[in-house]
Amino acid sequence: MDNPNSKFQHYLSTILILLFFTAPTFAQQSFRPKALIAPVKKDPSTLQYLTQINQRTPLTPLNLVLDLGGQFLWVDCQHNYTSSTYRPARCRSAQCSLAGADSCGDCFSPPSPGCNNNTCGLTPDNTVTHTATSGELADDVVSIQSTNGFNPGRNATVSHFLFTCAPTFLLQGLAKGVTGMAGLGRTKIALPSQFSSAFSFHRKFAVCLSSSKGVVFFGDGPYVLLPNVDASRLLTFTPLLINPVSTASAFSQGDASAEYFIGVKSIRIDEKVVAVNKSLLSIDNNGVGGTKISSVNPYTVLEASIFKAVTEAFVKASAARNITRVASVAPFEVCFSSENVLGTRLGASVPTVELVLQNENVIWRIFGANSMVSVSDKVLCLGFVNGGENSRTSIVIGGYQLEDNLLQFDLATSRLGFSSLLFGSRTTCANFNFTSSV
Ligand SMILES: *[C@@H]1O[C@H](CO)[C@@H](O)[C@H](O)[C@H]1NC(C)=O
Ligand SMILES: *[C@@H]1O[C@H](CO)[C@@H](O)[C@H](O)[C@H]1NC(C)=O
Ligand SMILES: *[C@@H]1O[C@H](CO)[C@@H](O)[C@H](O)[C@H]1NC(C)=O
Ligand SMILES: *[C@@H]1O[C@H](CO)[C@@H](O)[C@H](O)[C@H]1NC(C)=O
Ligand SMILES: *[C@@H]1O[C@H](CO)[C@@H](O)[C@H](O)[C@H]1NC(C)=O
Ligand SMILES: *[C@@H]1O[C@H](CO)[C@@H](O)[C@H](O)[C@H]1NC(C)=O
Repeated sequence: MDNPNSKFQHYLSTILILLFFTAPTFAQQSFRPKALIAPVKKDPSTLQYLTQINQRTPLTPLNLVLDLGGQFLWVDCQHNYTSSTYRPARCRSAQCSLAGADSCGDCFSPPSPGCNNNTCGLTPDNTVTHTATSGELADDVVSIQSTNGFNPGRNATVSHFLFTCAPTFLLQGLAKGVTGMAGLGRTKIALPSQFSSAFSFHRKFAVCLSSSKGVVFFGDGPYVLLPNVDASRLLTFTPLLINPVSTASAFSQGDASAEYFIGVKSIRIDEKVVAVNKSLLSIDNNGVGGTKISSVNPYTVLEASIFKAVTEAFVKASAARNITRVASVAPFEVCFSSENVLGTRLGASVPTVELVLQNENVIWRIFGANSMVSVSDKVLCLGFVNGGENSRTSIVIGGYQLEDNLLQFDLATSRLGFSSLLFGSRTTCANFNFTSSV
């Protein structure tokens, strides 16, 4: 897990040093946008969703993997980190306390970004490879485009944006050209909370993933997609649940998960309830079970017994529609000939998968465009994969199932708004008008 040779290793010390106690000055800016936007594109080889923000002085564009449940922004500080405004977070400063970083460390290499004495650290986590290491907490300038919900506006700057430094090796497994991960999780220093507090806007954000170019909105709607569809008006709401046990690769006892969980009560295929072990659908005291939403899993992952029940029901319902099953195509187990499958506005006409939430009237429907992956001209596969037995989280709703659905996370009220497939409203997540209006 840790790289023993890394100069980024923090040597924990318990010596109380009360010098260098600096009061933080988060984002003092005269320009107060109501919302911000960042573009999101899908990397075709890794299926990761990448976003771009500008950091440092002079401003440098960073390509980052978007991690919906990630704890914070982490970037490679070991190579190519040049900035005149980099500031390590001194032990016991307000920055350390906001970040929940209790450790205090020194670094026995020449000082550089990521290697300073008397700093607190966190554990940057590559959630794609499940690798974590220690890294210095720091702040620097971050700049991102504002929006009125229709178009990009002026760039907005946060002068002291908190993030964690990581060594270059932590980038292994991430898309080419990426220098870190942008965590949108439910912590005080994840991107949504820092942007909301910097500009005093609503603690809400929305993601709209696309197989091509999607968008993340920080702040409240409108979230307007061409031709003039405000996706913030299409939302159905369900409570966000807190998993009391961290799902990160490394964490301290007592830490809750930064990921977003929802309460799936049952699963239906073409309106028929699939028999599954109900206790797997709730989160137990050890943080096991339940349903989360993930942008780092390319496809929905189901615990083995749920996978078996859902795929059997799907195959049966497909047979009833005269859809012919064919040989599996990895990583998918259940594939069909596309011969008898009609195309509709909502994608391939196949059985609808329904996730029933807090009551029978609140249903997340997964239509063909989100359930079926076209692996060739003639073959369509159900885009769900088997998570095996003893999986930590029973249902992980992955990226492919989220594409062209707008999801709004309201951190203040702890609820998720979901639009369902936007094709039904004649728009897509690729339809934000990125042409600046200024
Ligand atoms: C550092 O930047 C240079 C020039 O932009 C680039 O060629 C090089 O690949 C970068 N190194 C790393 C480790 O990102
Ligand atoms: C940290 O302090 C130690 C001991 O004083 C010193 O050897 C080391 O060079 C310092 N490291 C940095 C990065 O300043
Ligand atoms: C504003 O940000 C965008 C996107 O990050 C960038 O392309 C553009 O150059 C920036 N504009 C200014 C004036 O800095
Ligand atoms: C249901 O799942 C729980 C939690 O994994 C397990 O303890 C229990 O034995 C399962 N029940 C059945 C009937 O398989
Ligand atoms: C399926 O095919 C059978 C035999 O060709 C036919 O009788 C039936 O109507 C078809 N069902 C559907 C749903 O198309
Ligand atoms: C996108 O926004 C720009 C700037 O407001 C506008 O000129 C353009 O017509 C818009 N594009 C479409 C397709 O509406």
